[in-house]
Amino acid sequence: MCGIVGIVGRDAVAGQVIEALRRLEYRGYDSAGIATLEHGRLERRRAEGKLANLQLKLIQAPLAGAIGIGHTRWATHGKPNETNAHPHATDRLAVVHNGIIENFRELKRELQAHGIAFETETDTEVVAQAVSHAMAQGLGPVEAVAATLPKLRGAFALGFLFAGRDDLLIGARHGAPLAIGYGEGETYLGSDALALAPFTDEITYLEEGDWAILTREGAEIRDVAGRPVERPRQKIAAQAYRIDKGNHRHFMAKEIHEQPEVVGRTLAHYVNLAEGRVALPEPLPFSFADLTRISITACGTAYYAGLVAKYWFERIARLPVEIDVASEARYREAPLEAGGLTLVISQSGETADTLASLRYAKGQGQHTLGVVNVPTSTIAREASAVLPTLAGPEIGVASTKAFSCQLTVLLCLALHAGRERGVLTAAEERRLVDALITVPGLMAEAVKQEGEIEGLAREIAKARDVLYLGRGTAYPMALEGALKLKEISYIHAEGYAAGELKHGPIALIDESVPVIVIAPHDAIFEKTVSNMQEVAARGGRIILVGDAKGAAEAGLDTLATLTMPDLDPVVAPIVYAVPIQLIAYHTAVFMGKDVDQPRNLAKSVTVE
Ligand code: AGP
Repeated sequence: MCGIVGIVGRDAVAGQVIEALRRLEYRGYDSAGIATLEHGRLERRRAEGKLANLQLKLIQAPLAGAIGIGHTRWATHGKPNETNAHPHATDRLAVVHNGIIENFRELKRELQAHGIAFETETDTEVVAQAVSHAMAQGLGPVEAVAATLPKLRGAFALGFLFAGRDDLLIGARHGAPLAIGYGEGETYLGSDALALAPFTDEITYLEEGDWAILTREGAEIRDVAGRPVERPRQKIAAQAYRIDKGNHRHFMAKEIHEQPEVVGRTLAHYVNLAEGRVALPEPLPFSFADLTRISITACGTAYYAGLVAKYWFERIARLPVEIDVASEARYREAPLEAGGLTLVISQSGETADTLASLRYAKGQGQHTLGVVNVPTSTIAREASAVLPTLAGPEIGVASTKAFSCQLTVLLCLALHAGRERGVLTAAEERRLVDALITVPGLMAEAVKQEGEIEGLAREIAKARDVLYLGRGTAYPMALEGALKLKEISYIHAEGYAAGELKHGPIALIDESVPVIVIAPHDAIFEKTVSNMQEVAARGGRIILVGDAKGAAEAGLDTLATLTMPDLDPVVAPIVYAVPIQLIAYHTAVFMGKDVDQPRNLAKSVTVE
C-alpha cells in the first residue's frame, strides 16, 4: 500500500529519491517524506498530500547528503498528516515502511515501559524505537536490526538509515515486496523494479524473510535466520518501464486506449494463430482432465474477471467452478481436494488477500495457477504455475487494460481446459479462437464511441445513484462497471443480475437513477429486454450498451444507446469492457476527480 526507496549514492541523492517515489505514487499518495544524512546528521522533510507537496518543501529547504530513504504513503495506522508521514526517526536512525506491524501495540507498551515516548499514531514508529532501543543497549546498527526483526509480526518491507553511517542502508522484506538495484558505486532499495528503473536495470528481489546490508559496493543478503544467502541478479527488460502518459491526459485514458494493442499481444502469447488453437506458453503441472472442479479467488476487478471465467469454464469446459473474493476465501477454510486447482488472478501480484488465499490453497495440496500482470511479483513467484497478462505496467489505480488481458488469458485457458477434458472439438475450438482473434479490432471499434460517451457522462455526473444490469457474463460486467464508476467518480453505483431487479432493487428506480444495461444480442437477450421494460415502466432512464440488432429488437426509448460492433457473444465481456471503462472515466473527468489517483485508494493493496 506504500512505496519505499533507499539510495546509498555517490552524490546528493534527494533528487533521485524523489524520482523513485514519483514512480511509486501509484502505491499510495496521501503523504510523503525523505531522510538523508548531512555531515552524518539525520535530516528529514515530510509533507501531507501528494509528492508535489514534498518537492515544494525540498525547493524551500533543500537536502544534501549522498545517502537517503524515501516513502510515499497509503495510511493504515494514523491520519494521513505530516506527523504520521514516514520516515519515522529517533536521533539514531530513520525508517520507512510498507505494510502493517500487527503486534505494534504490544511492542509499543514494552518500549514505553522502558520510558520511551512516542510522537505518532503509527505502527512504523515502533520499529524505529525498537531498533534505537537495541542500539542504546550497545548493539551496532546491523545487530540491532537483526535483534528487532524477529519481534515483528505482520507483512512489511522496511528501509533503515543510521546517523553517522553514510555507507550503510538496511532493507528487510517480510510479506511485502522489496528489490535491490545495483549501480556504478551506488546501490538502491525499492518496493519494485519500476522505482529503480531510472538508475539501473540490474535487480535482485529479496525473498520472504530476507534482509540486506547495502553499501556502495553492493549488498549482503541474509535469510530470516541471519545466514548469508545468494539471490539471483536479473536484468529487467527496458520496455517494462515506459510509464509516460503519451498524448493522453491521464494514465487511465492511455491504458484504456492501449487495450487493442495489449490484448492482441496477450492473445498472440496464448494462441497458435496459424493453427487456430490455444497454445499455452508453458505446459501446466496438471491436466484439466484430472480435475472435478476448480476454485477461483481474487479481489476487486480481478474478481470480476474470475466471475466471467466461471461462466466460460462451466459452459465450454464443463468444469464446475467455485469462486470467492480472496478476503473471504482466505478465512473460510473451505475443504479443497489435494491435487485440485486454485486459480488466483491479480494485476499487481501483491494483493495480500489474494496471496493469503493462494497460500491456503497450497497448504491444502492444491495446484495454484497465477494470472498476473507483474511476472516478478510475489504471487507469480509462489504459484505453482503462472499465466502472465502482457498488459505492461498499469499505473491508473482503476484497473482497465489488465482486466481485459485477464479475460483474454482466462478464455484461452477455458478453451485449453475444454480440449484437455475432451468436451471441446477442434472445430468448436477453432471457431472460438477465430472469435478471440477479432477482439483487438473490435475493441478499437468500441473506442470510437468515446465522443458519445463523453456527452453521456454529463448526464451520469448529475446522478446520486446509478444501477448497472446484466445477465450471464454481462452480470460480472455490470459489477465491474459499477466498481469503475464508484471508485473514480465517487458516485454510488451498484451492479445487479438483471433478473434480480424485481426482487427488491427495482424499488430504487425513478427518473433520477440512470440504469446502464449491458446486453449484447445473445441467447438470453430478450430476457434482459423484459427487465428494461420493467425499468422503463417506472420512469427509469436506460442507457443500453449493446449492438444494433439488440437495440432495434428492444425498441425502447432509451436515454442513450451505445452501439457496440457485432460479435460472437463469447467475447462480449472483453470488448464491452471498453464502454464501461470510458463511461466511468469521462464521468469522473467531467466531475473534476483525480482519475489516476482516486481518494482513499491505492493500486496495490498489500495489507489486509
Ligand atoms: C480495480 O479498479 C481496483 N483498483 C481494485 O479493485 C483492484 O482490482 C483490486 O485491488 C485487486 O488488485 P490486483 O488485481 O492487483 O490483485
